[in-house]
Amino acid sequence: MQTILQLNTSLSGAAGQSSQLAGAFAAALGRASGARVTVRDLATQPVPHLTLERFQAFGTPVAERTLEQQRYVAESDALVEELRRADTIVLGLPMYNFGVPSTLKAYFDHVARSGVTFRYTPNGPVGLLTGKKVFVFATRGGRYAGTPGDLQTAYVRQFLGFIGLRDVEFIYAEGLALGAEQRDAALGRALERIGQLAA
Ligand SMILES: Cc1cc2nc3c(=O)[nH]c(=O)nc-3n(C[C@H](O)[C@H](O)[C@H](O)COP(=O)(O)O)c2cc1C
Repeated sequence: MQTILQLNTSLSGAAGQSSQLAGAFAAALGRASGARVTVRDLATQPVPHLTLERFQAFGTPVAERTLEQQRYVAESDALVEELRRADTIVLGLPMYNFGVPSTLKAYFDHVARSGVTFRYTPNGPVGLLTGKKVFVFATRGGRYAGTPGDLQTAYVRQFLGFIGLRDVEFIYAEGLALGAEQRDAALGRALERIGQLAA
């Protein structure tokens, strides 16, 4: 069975505007395609910051890992396995202080694994999570898409591409803090796009 992985990263959990758009799309796509939707919410199930101990565990040969290192690697492996199993990834992405939620950065730090999700070759890095489609629902209080102020899109695209996720579509809902009229119009356009994408 096809699997859709929905990643919520809003500090408001499922109530976040990005989570609601991501959830509406994942549900519609699931209905249309018969795929199963799995939800990981990084506000309610936060991934810890990457510490030196955790990072060193990733690089320690399997046979030499301490019990603590085995636990650290198992946590990361579970996140990677969930990504690997997904055919489609739906990411809810609010902009916080010009960047991504810190919970998403911590998650990225746990799924960027040398030899597991990417490997270095003489020709440069190669991403290993291939053959998946990613939809990103980016919500912002202001307006940045298509301007040099949108550092978030380039960063997320770069990271996802690094681990092999190159087929990425961004759907923006911007100006959500610029008054009810602009907010409702932006959310309406995003919902319209969801209808088109899931049809
Ligand atoms: C801590 C915090 C920081 C924010 N920083 C920005 C920002 O840098 N630029 C912006 O356009 N909006 C910013 N916003 C507004 C959010 O991007 C906007 O409300 C978004 O819809 C939140 O999505 P969510 O409801 O899924 O969390 C910020 C909101 C919060 C709570």
